[in-house]
Amino acid sequence: MKVLITAGPTRERIDPVRYLTNDSSGKQGYAIAKSCVEKGWDVKLISGPVSIDIPNSVEFISVESAQQMYDACMNNIDVDIAICVAAVCDWRPKEVFNHKIKKTKEVEELQVSFIKNPDILHDISNHSNRPKLVVGFAAETENVIDNAKNKLINKGCDLIIANQVGISSSGFTSDNNKIHIVHKSGIESFPLMSKDSVANKVLSKVISIYS
Ligand code: PMT
Repeated sequence: MKVLITAGPTRERIDPVRYLTNDSSGKQGYAIAKSCVEKGWDVKLISGPVSIDIPNSVEFISVESAQQMYDACMNNIDVDIAICVAAVCDWRPKEVFNHKIKKTKEVEELQVSFIKNPDILHDISNHSNRPKLVVGFAAETENVIDNAKNKLINKGCDLIIANQVGISSSGFTSDNNKIHIVHKSGIESFPLMSKDSVANKVLSKVISIYS
């Protein structure tokens, strides 16, 4: 089985010393990569900048921005399963300054315009060489299930793993996570558990659908 996994945050440059990003630590995506390796699968892990150890025996592709992650995914789409765990920045600064933006006495307000990044999960799900199974995550601060159901439809993937973010016990950075697996025929909700256990639950579901 060949699997592509995205993990970690993306980093969108404003100038050489500043960027836009989010709180993803990579823990959940790396736990899924580790579980896939334990099953004997070939794993390509495409990761934004994180400070945790790379799991053994994965093909590791390091990226910084959403566009780089997108290009790496499209160049490696020839897999059986894709699992998009990365917290991809939806937006990037329209202009990237070549030099550090200077603070001046006169300027009290700095305007930065943002443009949309490509949607990796959507484009993998709708690709002519689509993997047989495509799994996305939904990081939500409210209306977790309803927003996840909408993402399942709008992105065109087979499963959405919904989790709440913006709380300390689960989601970003924490060692634990509380998930709902949302699919076309229903929702399965799980209690708070370690990100390793979440990885095993997700893979059990993947295997049950794939086989
Ligand atoms: O890394 P950790 O600290 O362990 O935290 C884990 C996590 C909270 C990051 C993870 O469990 C999670 O929820 N990942 C998805 C984060 C996210 O960006 O969710 P979203 O609802 O904004 O995006 C929905 C889906 O589309 C995701 O699969 C995302 O990877 C994908 N996406 C989003 C935007 C974009 N431009 N391209 C994408 O592929």
